[in-house]
Amino acid sequence: MDPKPPSPPHVLIFPCPAQGHVNSMLKLTELLLPAGLHITFLISAKDHDRLSRFTTVHSRLSSYPGFRFHVIHGLYEGPIDTDEKLSLMLIDSLPKVTTPLLRMLLLDSQVTCFIADGILGFSLDAAAGTGVPVMFFRTISACAFWAYFCIPDLINSGDLPFQGTNLDERIVNVKGMEGFLRRRDLPSFCRSGLSNTTFQEVSSITRRTPDAHALILNTFEDLEGPILSHIQKHCPNNNIYTIGPLHAHLKARSISKSTSSNSLFQEDRTCIGWLDQHAPKSVLYVSFGSIATLTRDQLIEFWHGLVNSEKPFLWVIREDLVSSLDDENKVPSELEKGTKERGYLVGWAPQEDVLTHSAVGAFLTHNGWNSTLESIVEGVPMVSWPFFADQQPNSRFVEAVWKLGLDMKDTCDRRIVEKIVKEVMEVRKEEFEESARRMAKLAKESVSSGGSSYRNLDRLIEDIKMMTA
Ligand code: UDX
Repeated sequence: MDPKPPSPPHVLIFPCPAQGHVNSMLKLTELLLPAGLHITFLISAKDHDRLSRFTTVHSRLSSYPGFRFHVIHGLYEGPIDTDEKLSLMLIDSLPKVTTPLLRMLLLDSQVTCFIADGILGFSLDAAAGTGVPVMFFRTISACAFWAYFCIPDLINSGDLPFQGTNLDERIVNVKGMEGFLRRRDLPSFCRSGLSNTTFQEVSSITRRTPDAHALILNTFEDLEGPILSHIQKHCPNNNIYTIGPLHAHLKARSISKSTSSNSLFQEDRTCIGWLDQHAPKSVLYVSFGSIATLTRDQLIEFWHGLVNSEKPFLWVIREDLVSSLDDENKVPSELEKGTKERGYLVGWAPQEDVLTHSAVGAFLTHNGWNSTLESIVEGVPMVSWPFFADQQPNSRFVEAVWKLGLDMKDTCDRRIVEKIVKEVMEVRKEEFEESARRMAKLAKESVSSGGSSYRNLDRLIEDIKMMTA
């Protein structure tokens, strides 16, 4: 009798339970499954419920015989809209609830390889002694990762904590960013004191990366090559696999035909019909991702700026975007009028489809990494208004390095919003469109057959296949 064929490699995938993280780790999963790998994907009960209600990715993944979701119960499921709530979840709820589960899965389920969200540093402790290699997947850019990584050096050099309040002062001790990095471009939590828990947690977690077997990043070499070479030097034992932009990679490999929405919110697709009525590159798309919040004053300043810019705008106003917009705090009537003439508001957009639409001429974004990559791939110039964490370095790179738009971080004034929107969509329109077109071409080449991300994904798959349980 023929011996039983060996079982396919079994990968355990564990994202931080937040839209931006779950979204990109689902895309990684969809890229790995066609290679014949078996995958168990850990997901919170709330996210699992939303995925099955709002997306097609749930059924697409479930059609692979080697795939299963493992639902985690008992996690903190409130908003993660502040640094403090993020660290509470990272330090408290997640490790407590998931460590016993991870050990059980790693010891009993013939897991070959564990791909953990790199922000969940405790995954290394959970896997200790099990013999299962841990790969870290970071959902952030290489430039933000490198800024996080350098925080202990900035403390040693005296750059942190800040002495004084001048946020425009240069930071020269992050290699590769000497010429353009200012205090205000460091990750948001660098502005708090050294005793701040998020600050300590994020920098110490990032410093654990060299202890992992490998680092996987959703980026591509033509975008972040110089920064990647610095990361490589400091992680000599790490393999780095840059395999992004993941959503473009899925399309290039024909795994996802159009878009692969992994939204945890219900999309309002009526905005596509509204976009159809507009001239090419005339509309400003506005969205601050799934976590960022605005004060009512900020909302009103943005709103005036958008209406005064006289550009048609499509704006995602999530249910929880603004904390205090109740009946007594209504939107001023002049804004309602301007919005009726030029604006379209939705609670959640099919963002990838929106950015692909020919009517969209620019993106006012918080520069979450997924949004930034989606804009880059479609060649859409950006107006950046970063909210927190990795978004501060991302927006600096958008303006100063990639020349893909303008960064208006730390200001929220109707006149500045109007001025910068006009600058990007009128005054310097051609310049930004040209650099956005160039970068979009490089992004698409990187995920096409023979491109750097394409080759790196093949290498990742081969390396996982070489591992044995
Ligand atoms: C967070 C962080 O902010 C981000 O920087 C980090 O890289 C991942 O986690 P989030 O703030 O939600 O994510 O931003 P982003 O990374 O841009 O992800 C948002 C995702 O939601 C994007 O893929 C975007 O296409 C999608 N989206 C957003 C929609 O589908 N519809 C919308 O209306 C808004």
